[in-house]
Amino acid sequence: MTTRIGWIGCGVHANEMLLPQLTRLDVELVALCDVDADRLGRTARRYGVASQDATRDWRALLARSDLDAIGVAAGPAAHHEIGLAALARGLPAFLEKPPAADAARARALAEAARRAGKPVALGFMKRYSTANRIGGNIVRGAGFGAPATFLGHYMTAPTYFEKDPDYTGFYLHHCVHYLDLVPWLMGEVVDLGVRAHELAPGKLALHVDFRFASGAIGALQMGTHQSRGTPMEWWQVTADHQRVEVRNVHEVRHYRAPPFKASRGDATLREGEDTMVWEPNLTVAANEDHKGYHALLGDFLAAVRGEPSTIPTAEDGARAMALLDRMIAGAEAGRARR
Ligand SMILES: NC(=O)c1ccc[n+]([C@@H]2O[C@H](COP(=O)([O-])OP(=O)(O)OC[C@H]3O[C@@H](n4cnc5c(N)ncnc54)[C@H](O)[C@@H]3O)[C@@H](O)[C@H]2O)c1
Repeated sequence: MTTRIGWIGCGVHANEMLLPQLTRLDVELVALCDVDADRLGRTARRYGVASQDATRDWRALLARSDLDAIGVAAGPAAHHEIGLAALARGLPAFLEKPPAADAARARALAEAARRAGKPVALGFMKRYSTANRIGGNIVRGAGFGAPATFLGHYMTAPTYFEKDPDYTGFYLHHCVHYLDLVPWLMGEVVDLGVRAHELAPGKLALHVDFRFASGAIGALQMGTHQSRGTPMEWWQVTADHQRVEVRNVHEVRHYRAPPFKASRGDATLREGEDTMVWEPNLTVAANEDHKGYHALLGDFLAAVRGEPSTIPTAEDGARAMALLDRMIAGAEAGRARR
């Protein structure tokens, strides 16, 4: 069944990542919206949307009777306001992250989604990147045992957030991803602490430590002081005599408990005991979108059709935003003390 989509927000992310992946799926892009007439016109031409179906008023788009769902990539305030309006109108919504500008509004959106009983999918595509999926499935698999520790880093560059010297953009648009990914891997967070180090204005390093409901512990470093021309993320989960590492979403290593091999004439690699490694074949012709946008949008469409799906929900968004609020309070207090 073709899903008829109305799309709001024709900026960089929608044009370069989301709409190219969405239109590979079984959808009809029936209406487009952006307050910026140039972006709206360019995006409509690119995706073959007729000018009478392109509007600068998102309320006019929501008032159409020919939509099965909407997508929004327009920033935190718009995600919240338009998300609430879509739910009030009974429409499923894909909302980019963050779901709102603060935890209270993200909570209100989650409550509205629960009351409406309509799917709201958040743009937490890190759950869907091939490598993180493999890593997550190993961690949750029967043979792994209870996760004991999480260790990770997730960096970015000062240039990316130079318009927000107060770090709002860094917190809301960057850190929120891992405040979804970490509980997705480790379960609920019951305690969170933060250390902050400002190298120079605009260059902030954070160390966030976690206690999980299971008793497991974790540490995550995030910062704005690395070059985006280098690999920027890495995580590891350990259990008893096992660990999984995911490097920059292009390499997964699963370590188990092999014996020493030095001086062993029969040294070899054994099933179930030695390290397994996954890397994608990046030369393959098919567009595989290992970052996860295609898989996430496909899962959203499954939810719209009423089929089983594992979309990150508005409730997941509220959880990530609640953790983010606590992290920001700790980071700002740490900065003020220096
Ligand atoms: N999941 C990811 O990996 C990822 C990556 C990049 C961006 N994003 C998210 O996507 C969102 C957009 O980011 P971007 O880089 O495309 O920003 P952008 O500024 O390039 O694009 C946003 C667009 O939305 C439009 N817009 C804003 N408010 C609107 C409204 N009320 N009605 C209609 N149009 C409106 C703007 O005119 C602009 O064209 C952000 O929330 C960002 O965090 C997510």
